Amino acid sequence: MIASYQALCQARVDHALATLFEAPLADLGRLYEAMRYSVMNGGKRVRPLLAYAACEALGALPENANGAACAVELIHAYSLVHDDLPAMDDDDLRRGQPTTHKAFDEACAILAGDGLQSLAFSALVDPRLSELADGTRLQMVRTLAMAAGPAGMVGGQAIDLGSVGKRLGQPALERMHRHKTGALIEASVHLGALASERAERADLAALQTYAQAVGLAFQVQDDILDVEGDTATLGKRQGADIARDKPTYPALLGLGAAKAYAVELRDQALHSLRPFGAGAEPLRALARYIIERRN
Ligand code: IPE
Ligand code: IPE
Ligand code: MG
Ligand code: MG
Ligand code: MG
Repeated sequence: MIASYQALCQARVDHALATLFEAPLADLGRLYEAMRYSVMNGGKRVRPLLAYAACEALGALPENANGAACAVELIHAYSLVHDDLPAMDDDDLRRGQPTTHKAFDEACAILAGDGLQSLAFSALVDPRLSELADGTRLQMVRTLAMAAGPAGMVGGQAIDLGSVGKRLGQPALERMHRHKTGALIEASVHLGALASERAERADLAALQTYAQAVGLAFQVQDDILDVEGDTATLGKRQGADIARDKPTYPALLGLGAAKAYAVELRDQALHSLRPFGAGAEPLRALARYIIERRN
């Protein structure tokens, strides 16, 4: 189920994203090329999938979430471009291709990341992508700004970089993961739900519990794959965390306990979806996929 659902959503979001990369001026061609290179390169599109699936779980058409899906993928792509820079994780391989600063240059990668971040917010209010009430769009902009900024992803990246070589305890590691990865995953679900324009308070609360569990599970699995994945399947360098002495779940708990924790988080996510019927099947499938994935 997940493979065909994933293919359908990937095609939908890729089509929507492609409308956003027209260079307004010829001399900005290289910047737009770097932005396009960083996005249109076959990521798994997990965040857009979560946005579409949350929108569908509330009984709305997934197309309502096109703006949300583009926005979360653009923020994610920008975060990866900057995460791979020499000043951060210093990686040269991403999605099976040279990282943006390798394919272009560092200054261009920094600007491409900046540009992608701005484009994310334009996507949320772009009438070509989704028709939504202004009040809905305002709530969406606020949600994304909180999740991407210092109280969310950027804050998490700062904690990550400040923790290299340190032994974090589980609460501190969890706090880092919830910020650097969990916040945007939580926002993906929340934005998809807002885009349905049908979410009741109780729906949002249940979906938030789901998204928090899935968001943490996602980074726990990312840490596990750094240990036991392989570079060709991952499309990024296996062992990069170990080489840089990054604080990770396998480093803290051991591989077996990290895997058990991922299963526990998946079960928490599934449990939180009990009030929803068959419409939430894609969200359930995504919770399973997130800890079974090999890339
Ligand atoms: C990798 O994210 C970075 C993390 C936040 C763990 P993904 O595993 O979603 O990467 P892509 O988008 O599929 O390349
Ligand atoms: C990245 O975490 C999180 C963000 C980019 C916000 P990682 O540094 O673990 O991601 P990978 O392993 O390089 O994809
Ligand atoms: Mg990193
Ligand atoms: Mg990294
Ligand atoms: Mg990682």
